[in-house]
Amino acid sequence: MGTASSPAGLTNKPDAAPAIVHTQGLSKTYRTGFWLNQRVTALQPCSLTVHRGETFGLLGPNGAGKTTLLKVLLGIIRPTAGTATLLGHPLGHSSVKQRIGYLPENAYFYDFLTGWEFLQYSAGLFGLSRATQQRRITELLDLVGLPQAAAKKKQLRHYSKGMVQRVGMAQALINDPDMVFLDEPMSGLDPTGRFQVREIILALKREGKTIFFNSHILSDVEVICDRIAILDQGELIANGSLDQLLGSADQYVVKGRGGRLDELAPRLEQITVQGDLWQGHVKGDPYDFAHQIPLAGGELIALQQTRPTLEDFFIAKVGQRRGAKATLE
Ligand SMILES: Nc1ncnc2c1ncn2[C@@H]1O[C@H](COP(=O)(O)OP(=O)(O)OP(=O)(O)O)[C@@H](O)[C@H]1O
Ligand SMILES: [Mg+2]
Repeated sequence: MGTASSPAGLTNKPDAAPAIVHTQGLSKTYRTGFWLNQRVTALQPCSLTVHRGETFGLLGPNGAGKTTLLKVLLGIIRPTAGTATLLGHPLGHSSVKQRIGYLPENAYFYDFLTGWEFLQYSAGLFGLSRATQQRRITELLDLVGLPQAAAKKKQLRHYSKGMVQRVGMAQALINDPDMVFLDEPMSGLDPTGRFQVREIILALKREGKTIFFNSHILSDVEVICDRIAILDQGELIANGSLDQLLGSADQYVVKGRGGRLDELAPRLEQITVQGDLWQGHVKGDPYDFAHQIPLAGGELIALQQTRPTLEDFFIAKVGQRRGAKATLE
């Protein structure tokens, strides 16, 4: 579904699934300072849509406004302007709270409770019966890979960062929500922990849950997400599916042998040469270039389409914007 202020060429394509998050011109300016007379614009008017069943990744450098957007959507802070709906209701609607889960950034839980007690407490907030609590906690500990014995015996203050993050994930899922918001779910985890969180998110996706998460770990986002948006200094600078965003900058790598490289080189970038083998990224029409190789006395070995990684795209997009801003200033 296209949005009015999506950056040009990066609008979301029409999708049959209903919108589960929809924002229009949503913005947030914090008031700070002793007299609350200073303002920080954390989110500039932002319009985006997330569809049911999607895994949506919100990316951006530190301080870009990701957590702010998440907190506005969750009704934790009020927007300065704009409107939004969550599961078809205006923000802050009481019936929505039962159907969403939330893992906060740098979550701080009640240190003197065991993991099991903390999850029981969380389940109690949703009014789950004792029997349902028991079943749900057991299922979730299994899902997040936390042994029951550790959850029952150890207080949270003795948990490692990875264990706290796992309990946090279980807490976010305790009410079997339709949609989960995860703020940096992989932060501070070792590679195994990151892999496990990735697997949990993929399992939730298979169950048809909608997942909205903030992350800096672009390689994970690339594997997990259907759609992404990039915020930079509060501004939405990209929004679309990975195919829409990364496919738009297709590149071809050509590998060849021999020939007059001085004739071919002007149409190549990032050339590497090893003996009589060479390769490079083609500038312009790759098929036309492939025809030029034998004419220059060389042999075509391979012509492969490559697409930039999400990291390439992110760095280029944010860098471009910084460059443009610096030129204006
Ligand atoms: N409560 C607050 N009062 C004043 N300014 C705030 C407040 N919370 C956030 N900010 C400011 O708003 C901007 C966006 O912050 P936010 O935490 O939303 O960014 P983020 O993208 O989540 O960053 P990170 O990747 O570091 O988590 C920053 O400039 C931050 O300093
Ligand atoms: Mg944040």
